[in-house]
Amino acid sequence: MKVLAVHAVKGGVGKTAAAVNLAYFAAASGLPTLLWDLDSQGASSWYLRGEPGTEKTRKVLAGQTPVGRLVKPTPYRNLNLIPADFSYRYLDIMLKKIEPPREALRRLLRPFSETYALAVLDCPPSLSHLADNVMVAADVVLAPVVPTWLSLRAFDQLQDHFKSEGLAARKLRPFFSMADRRRSLHRELLDAPPPALARRMQAVVPYSSTVERMGERRAPLAAFAPGDDAALLAYAELWLETASALGV
Ligand SMILES: Nc1ncnc2c1ncn2[C@@H]1O[C@H](COP(=O)(O)OP(=O)(O)OP(=O)(O)O)[C@@H](O)[C@H]1O
Ligand SMILES: [Mg+2]
Repeated sequence: MKVLAVHAVKGGVGKTAAAVNLAYFAAASGLPTLLWDLDSQGASSWYLRGEPGTEKTRKVLAGQTPVGRLVKPTPYRNLNLIPADFSYRYLDIMLKKIEPPREALRRLLRPFSETYALAVLDCPPSLSHLADNVMVAADVVLAPVVPTWLSLRAFDQLQDHFKSEGLAARKLRPFFSMADRRRSLHRELLDAPPPALARRMQAVVPYSSTVERMGERRAPLAAFAPGDDAALLAYAELWLETASALGV
């Protein structure tokens, strides 16, 4: 099983939108896929109509309940979900109790390798202990970057952290998200991306009102957007690049 994390230090940059759409494309391509919503906001759980879990996450992390009991179906073939609940705001503290601490998430994911070809992790914005676990567990870390200086700065912080933690730089893959060519700064950065983004994916996710509609439709774009929708096509391209980086 491969592990894809969608992670960024900055909030509101399109992590959840990417995680849900990429998980959908992976499942539609025939890969048994598990999306784990690691953010107590529960946004990807909402998009995928996941019922809140009844199992206590604390008990799962303490090894008292099998992690597989957290899994819920989604309306989509090949796509299952571990929904977030409000206790996830303590996930950092809960993971620290598992030894070795940076490997906790990797160990929790291990039992799923018999059932799934891909796990997608939708992460909260942070550089926390949970983030360290995510970076260790993931084969590819996709990082959405909005073409603005603050978002680029946050990506620099993530890249520096990767280096300082001794993680393989090649698994960190940025991509432009919420790109709006009507804005001069966006145009400048899209046309001449800074060297820090050398390993970026070529797909560019545009600023799109269809993506905003995901919250209303509670569905991935492919379930309701027209076939020629620019954001839908961008996520489809991003999935192909990601699949190639993952080797699936
Ligand atoms: N390409 C896009 N175009 C327009 N709006 C978008 C796009 N991607 C995401 N959004 C909107 O921006 C907001 C944040 O998106 P999303 O939840 O995907 O970001 P996030 O990085 O997961 O946020 P958080 O850090 O809170 O988890 C949402 O309201 C979403 O509908
Ligand atoms: Mg999110």
